[in-house]
Amino acid sequence: MREKKLSILMVCLGNICRSPLAEGLLASKINLDHFFVDSAGTADYHVGAMPDQRSINVAKKHGIDLTYCLARQFTQHDFDLFDEIYVMDKSNYRNLLKLARNDNDKHKVDLILNQLSSKLNKEVPDPYYGGESEFLHVYNLLDEATTKIAERLYN
Ligand code: 4NP
Repeated sequence: MREKKLSILMVCLGNICRSPLAEGLLASKINLDHFFVDSAGTADYHVGAMPDQRSINVAKKHGIDLTYCLARQFTQHDFDLFDEIYVMDKSNYRNLLKLARNDNDKHKVDLILNQLSSKLNKEVPDPYYGGESEFLHVYNLLDEATTKIAERLYN
């Protein structure tokens, strides 16, 4: 019998800057025969759009292709589909907790940087109004956090 893959969802506001980077980074570090990784936004502003060109560029420089990603909005059904849900900032966190139907849903959600320093509740800053250096900073934070997640998944 085929086992259900452990499923991990990355969530930000627009699903075009941070969460596609988190998705692509984690996907590059794990065996996708065993795990499913996706991303979504809490808002519907960019539904159907490819990631922001600045996220595509910083990922490409590190050998990661994000051009397959298309933005979608988070729905309550994602609580049924995913085992672990990582959000980028406290606003994403609050938005998801409002949609959570019960404690089981709530317990799936955590700030992704708590993977690095548990309970400090640090945020991945929104780089949308920034430039290349803000996107590189986000990339580096998410690189570290996804390495921690990948290590945990295999231990
Ligand atoms: P993301 O960044 O949440 O990391 O995808 C943003 C993308 C779009 C907007 C804000 C943040 N926006 O206001 O359209």
